[in-house]
Amino acid sequence: MENQLDQTARDKLKEKAREARERAYVPYSPFPVGAAVLTASGSIYTGANIENASYPLSICAERTAIFQAITAGEREIIALAVTADTARPVSPCGACRQVMNEFNPEMDVMMLNLAGAELSRTAGELLPEHFTAGDLEQS
Ligand code: THU
Repeated sequence: MENQLDQTARDKLKEKAREARERAYVPYSPFPVGAAVLTASGSIYTGANIENASYPLSICAERTAIFQAITAGEREIIALAVTADTARPVSPCGACRQVMNEFNPEMDVMMLNLAGAELSRTAGELLPEHFTAGDLEQS
């Protein structure tokens, strides 16, 4: 999975995630996060975390970016980059992992930090045995 995308495409996605981080709305945590997704059609959509005075209503950067793409009519996301100023590459939360898997368990998820560390996994690797549409079948 690591090298499925060429380096130019990977670098572009990382840059977009870094730019999106600058637009995070984080008055309650000091923790801006940026994300960018690449779709099968070749388009890039970005997202940042958006917090709320009612804390649980806050949304992560990853889901913001995915929902932007889906709302634009996209259905296949092939890669996602997420970045924050963390010691290790930022690790997506469980809710975001579930949402990634809805759209592509093979999605190339690039976890990054501002210092340049990087870790790539597929969405399926990040959430094995995720809940699927097939699980909604009742016996
Ligand atoms: N957050 C993200 O946006 N993505 C992650 O991968 C981890 C956490 C956000 C949620 C909240 O706004 C802040 O970071 C602190 O948890």
